[in-house]
Amino acid sequence: KKVVLAYSGGLDTSVILKWLQTTYNCEIVTFTADLGQGEELEPARKKAELLGVKPDNIYVDDLREEFVRDYVFPMFRANTVYEGQYLLGTSIARPLIAKRQIEILRATGADAVCHGATGKGNDQVRFELSYYALEPDVTVIAPWREWDLTSRTKLIEFAEMHQIPISKDKRGEAPFSVDANLLHSSSEGKVLEDPSLAAPEDVHMRTIAPEDAPDEPTLMSIDFEKGDAVGIDGEALSPAEILTRLNALGKANGIGRLDLVENRFVGMKSRGVYETPGGTILLVAHRAIESITLDRGAAHLKDELMPRYAELIYNGFWFSPEREMLQAAIDLSQNDVSGRVRLKLYKGNVIVIGRESPNSLYDQELVTFEDGAVAYDHHDAAGFIKLNALRLRTLAARKRRNG
Ligand code: ARG
Ligand code: SIN
Repeated sequence: KKVVLAYSGGLDTSVILKWLQTTYNCEIVTFTADLGQGEELEPARKKAELLGVKPDNIYVDDLREEFVRDYVFPMFRANTVYEGQYLLGTSIARPLIAKRQIEILRATGADAVCHGATGKGNDQVRFELSYYALEPDVTVIAPWREWDLTSRTKLIEFAEMHQIPISKDKRGEAPFSVDANLLHSSSEGKVLEDPSLAAPEDVHMRTIAPEDAPDEPTLMSIDFEKGDAVGIDGEALSPAEILTRLNALGKANGIGRLDLVENRFVGMKSRGVYETPGGTILLVAHRAIESITLDRGAAHLKDELMPRYAELIYNGFWFSPEREMLQAAIDLSQNDVSGRVRLKLYKGNVIVIGRESPNSLYDQELVTFEDGAVAYDHHDAAGFIKLNALRLRTLAARKRRNG
């Protein structure tokens, strides 16, 4: 048996590694991805070696560009938010990790994949739906649903017994559970579990507090090409560079903090504290460029489809025919969504101050309060209103008749 393990190099996945070796007596392949979580990856390689993984079986990949180009940007074309607020920073990373695990499974002739998500959350669903969608007969191992290391004490004991190095700060109970990548960081659990209590300031790791942000606003611009950001302040940048740059701008201006209670797919409500600095700027800017380049019918239909699309991503159905159908429609809508948006970033706020596009549908002639436009005769408006009012008048007449 050969297992491809999604390995962060942290204590929990190191324990999983040893547990797999001892429980299943299997050969381990580790996969560690750089998704922009802001951690060195080489220590994970060293640790995997230390735990007896063969060098050929250690995969360390920089997936930042693929993550932003093929997952984050397609999602942002739809202006995606879950339950009105969550920008899906964790949800959108899971299908990519799963896809890469399956690729490595094929390359190494392995027969099983393993992840470190708990048995109570969304992540297990997202990983496993993606595995099965790509490799229908794959064996999935989810240690958190199988083992008896059900407390921190037992986990630490197991680690000590197997000479797994434990850093000082990991000995005690972590104050909350963190997941991070280029799009966002999330914190959940433990001290955050009571939703009536304010989160401690130190959960925030990638934004300064809005009240500490500079008194001077930051002026900047984003260039779009067919719905995707392609440059900042006139400079062409790659997808991952764009998000990295926007994260820095957002961080410095206290942008993108969110404290919410959301509905997990598995049924319970959970409280999370998220930071999505760059994504928050991008969402506002994308809506602004769409505001002048998208037709009303297309724009409104997109907005109707969006919650459905968000739910598919949240629930782990990235690799599903219905997500792909929606994506095709969304992508088609973006053909003319090109141009520049100018923004002011100020103490947690993203304020649009200008938008322009060679494909703009905005017609100053049409909209002006001054006389002039020929395409619009305001006498036509009288008939337009009268016909639209017809059924309202019929209803009102009945109401008057019936008292
Ligand atoms: N609740 C968020 C989601 O479902 C974040 C999950 C964070 N995951 C984690 N392993 N800490 O997308
Ligand atoms: C987990 O259970 O691993 C984290 C929370 C979630 O997946 O929703």
